[in-house]
Amino acid sequence: MADFRNEIERRRTFAIISHPDAGKTTLTEKFLLYGGAIQSAGSVKGKQGDKHAVSDWMELEKQRGISVTSSVMQFEYEGYCINILDTPGHQDFSEDTYRTLMAADSVVMVIDAAKGIEPQTRKLFHVVAARHIPIFTFINKLDREAQDPFDLIDELETEFGIGTYPMNWPISCGQTFKGVYDREKKAILTFDNFHGGRERLRAIECDITDTEKLDSLIGDDLRETLVEQVELLDGACFDFDLEKVRCGKLSPVFFGSALNNFGIEPFLESFLKMTTPPLAREAVEGEVSPFDDKFSAFVFKIQANMNKAHRDRIAFMRICSGKFERGKEYMHMRQGKMIKLSQPQQMMAQDRAIIDEAYAGDIIGVFDPGIFSIGDTIAEPPLKVKFKGIPTFAPEHFAVIEQIDSMKRKQFQKGMEQIAEEGAIQIFFIPDAGMERVIVGVVGLLQFDVLKFRMQSEYGVGYSKMDLPHEQIRYIEKCPVEFSKLRLSGDTRRVKDIRGNDLLIFPGTWAINFALENNEGLELSEFKRW
Ligand code: G4P
Repeated sequence: MADFRNEIERRRTFAIISHPDAGKTTLTEKFLLYGGAIQSAGSVKGKQGDKHAVSDWMELEKQRGISVTSSVMQFEYEGYCINILDTPGHQDFSEDTYRTLMAADSVVMVIDAAKGIEPQTRKLFHVVAARHIPIFTFINKLDREAQDPFDLIDELETEFGIGTYPMNWPISCGQTFKGVYDREKKAILTFDNFHGGRERLRAIECDITDTEKLDSLIGDDLRETLVEQVELLDGACFDFDLEKVRCGKLSPVFFGSALNNFGIEPFLESFLKMTTPPLAREAVEGEVSPFDDKFSAFVFKIQANMNKAHRDRIAFMRICSGKFERGKEYMHMRQGKMIKLSQPQQMMAQDRAIIDEAYAGDIIGVFDPGIFSIGDTIAEPPLKVKFKGIPTFAPEHFAVIEQIDSMKRKQFQKGMEQIAEEGAIQIFFIPDAGMERVIVGVVGLLQFDVLKFRMQSEYGVGYSKMDLPHEQIRYIEKCPVEFSKLRLSGDTRRVKDIRGNDLLIFPGTWAINFALENNEGLELSEFKRW
């Protein structure tokens, strides 16, 4: 029993978010290097195509040289068992990116020191903030010219409405970057251009009042600036408060350079201490403790065609409580059936390995013969729970998709429904149009390519596609009149989702305002929980 508890307590499951190019892959890679899970940099993502890409699963990914789906990596570090959830960016940004955040207990936000907060970080941050989980900030690329560090933390506080607590403070940047001052240890970590492998950084204890020592380390100009800035920080900045960190109100901020291995290890160490083991999860019946000895999990992602030869699907689930054991039967709560989770696997750096057991906090992928949907709960009787649903995230791109070959009506319908059920796209029905002509909504444009590719290769059907200028969707929370009688601008479209909910698709914010101004009592919302 002590082992069981310890296994869960030593788990840390987090997602890394950033705008493309801020250094997420580089940082992940350095974490894996420190954990000994990989031996050299460049093994996580092969942008140039010659390196091996971890999530090189779908044909489409190979063709495009990008990763379409988010992957999970597990590794050990100093007694901790760490699960990193990768959140795809670039054009492959999709609902999966958002859903992955539902499986994490905390988040590491990587920010490019020269660019500050960028659009994708902003989108992801808002989803994370809604969950009140800890958010740690790594401000990267200090070896290059950077924005003023005060401006950077100010931007975080004003844009995101959270407190920040700089754990360390940069001493210059770019050509003259000398390292960081560790506020807790009262020490200087010097930057020596390149810190190869897993070498420890040299931390030189040095109180901020020790002028002589500071001068010898960083020179008097930089010493003066540092002393001034640290005093300002001590006086004006938020106090450190672990409770606030743990509910996402205060973000510890670290400065460093992922590429140069600078600041990674101190970051990992503080992060692992401050972040929490697996958190209790909200279910309809109340909270489920990770230490409940009965296994429970929810599906947050379904991935099709990882192995083209087998046409299989993999359902990724986050274990919320207890211990998973291979071969045991568990209850599929929605279907009310006992099932065996077959071919349970975990990603260990580059490899997918079949596993015999896993604990709360872990992510496992299981073979899905078509029985899982996003949000499904699996539990070990007598535990009877249903985890609260994963929200549906508002698509931002819409197109009318119409079947072109009437001989293939059934395949078209089946394909569209199955792909929508997996959560790869959202389908909306146009009143009186039937199933031959639907509106498809996606979060990231690449999802349209994935849809086309899969409809062709798996269902053998093509279709015509007409892009719509619409960008925003709203659920109806409260409707003062019959849905069809709402007064709307000419280009607002009325649709139904797959569950029969009424929705409106708008070409822009002004059209939303028009609807609100012309229909007193109308209430709209952006998200819908399943
Ligand atoms: P991402 O996953 O967030 O998209 O970013 P990624 O790690 O791929 O990094 C984007 C680019 O920034 C890469 O350069 C990477 O080497 C560089 N980079 C990451 N961290 C640092 C840092 O601390 N300092 C500096 N100077 N650069 C950094 P690239 O030329 O686009 O790719 P590559 O050829 O180096 O792989």
